[in-house]
Amino acid sequence: MFSAESLGSLLLALATGFPDRAKNMVQTSDELTEEERGLLWAPLACTDDPAKQARGLGDAIRKGGTNDFSANECYRAAFYLGHGVDELRDDPLFGYFSSHRAGRVLDKWVHYFPIYSRHLAPYRGRPIRVLEIGTYRGGSLDMWRWYFGPQVTLVGIDIDEDAKAAADPRHVVEIGDQTDADFLRRVAEEHGPFDVIIDDGGHGMQQQIVTAETLFPLLADGGVFLVEDCHTSYWDSYEGGRNRPGTFMEWAKQRLDDVNGFHQPGPVDPVWTGQLDGLHCYDSVVVLDKKTRFAPFAEQVGHAEFLTYPRAAAGMFSELLATRDAARAERDRLRRTLEEKEGARDEELRLLRAELASLRPKNAQLDSRLTQLKDELDNARISLRRVRRNQATGRWLRRSGDL
Ligand SMILES: C[S@@+](CC[C@H](N)C(=O)[O-])C[C@H]1O[C@@H](n2cnc3c(N)ncnc32)[C@H](O)[C@@H]1O
Repeated sequence: MFSAESLGSLLLALATGFPDRAKNMVQTSDELTEEERGLLWAPLACTDDPAKQARGLGDAIRKGGTNDFSANECYRAAFYLGHGVDELRDDPLFGYFSSHRAGRVLDKWVHYFPIYSRHLAPYRGRPIRVLEIGTYRGGSLDMWRWYFGPQVTLVGIDIDEDAKAAADPRHVVEIGDQTDADFLRRVAEEHGPFDVIIDDGGHGMQQQIVTAETLFPLLADGGVFLVEDCHTSYWDSYEGGRNRPGTFMEWAKQRLDDVNGFHQPGPVDPVWTGQLDGLHCYDSVVVLDKKTRFAPFAEQVGHAEFLTYPRAAAGMFSELLATRDAARAERDRLRRTLEEKEGARDEELRLLRAELASLRPKNAQLDSRLTQLKDELDNARISLRRVRRNQATGRWLRRSGDL
């Protein structure tokens, strides 16, 4: 296959209006096998549009299974030779990117810009907190500060100590590993809650999964979590592969099921169903919207009856409402009466208790007087019996004397 240098010359020939030179290179180059020559010839021969030719070359290189860099360069040329710039002309981040070619290193896939704009525009110009994981030389931090405006609190994380020194001193850069959940929690506690989190770190499977699982629950309600370079889920070098267990994209597919958790039996997951409001999958980017959701329910409007709503039905409906309101009023009246009666009963009980308490000493006095009177009565009975006995004895003596 063409070396990087030869491919560069070929693309330059297309870009500067010399398609025959490009064709000649393909026909005569000894860097190409006959099969590769055939593959590259086809897109040059089937159109005169240099953008389409460059795009076709990229596709052919991919088909031939050669390195990604060559295809990338063809697609890049196709973008600039075609309508790519026109399409992104109004995108503020693409504008920033294109006009900062000599600033700090800023490493982006160009198709990310409209994705950022779609999901991050609502946060611009507001006093929000933004966390970027993977700051590299600080170019993206500069871009985020410009994009979100002067009220933003911007925090970066990187595993590389040099990232701190490379960044503009206005940015906070915490040094640590994004697979260290305790470190992530500490950063969120110290600088959060974040409204926007952008994961552009190591792009390894565990790095992306641990970061999402740790930081999404700590994201502010109404916030957004964006994971970049998810194409690593399909790259061998990152232990990726289509449908390969353990990749970030397999993890994201589970979240798709979670978003629909209300429609499956069993309890709903409080985070991944209760707070994951939306999941957006783009080429290489996954966006998670956080919003505490109300439980979904179906509602119906638009019946034709609405237009010809019969008066009788309307009257009956009002009647039903009036009956309901009357029943509610009666219920409230009875409740109040009951409360009043309970209040009166409690008061009466309280007074009786007080009276009872006040009668207790008098009762004790009467008890002791009763005991005293009982004693006196007993004594009187004894005296009476004695008197009667004496009288009887007197009567007997008198009768004996008579005798
Ligand atoms: C692709 S670069 C970031 C590019 C930058 N955001 C930009 O747009 O210019 C990835 C960064 O992630 C950092 N990184 C790699 N593994 C990491 C990890 N486990 N934890 C935190 N940062 C990590 C690297 O040191 C590197 O600076």
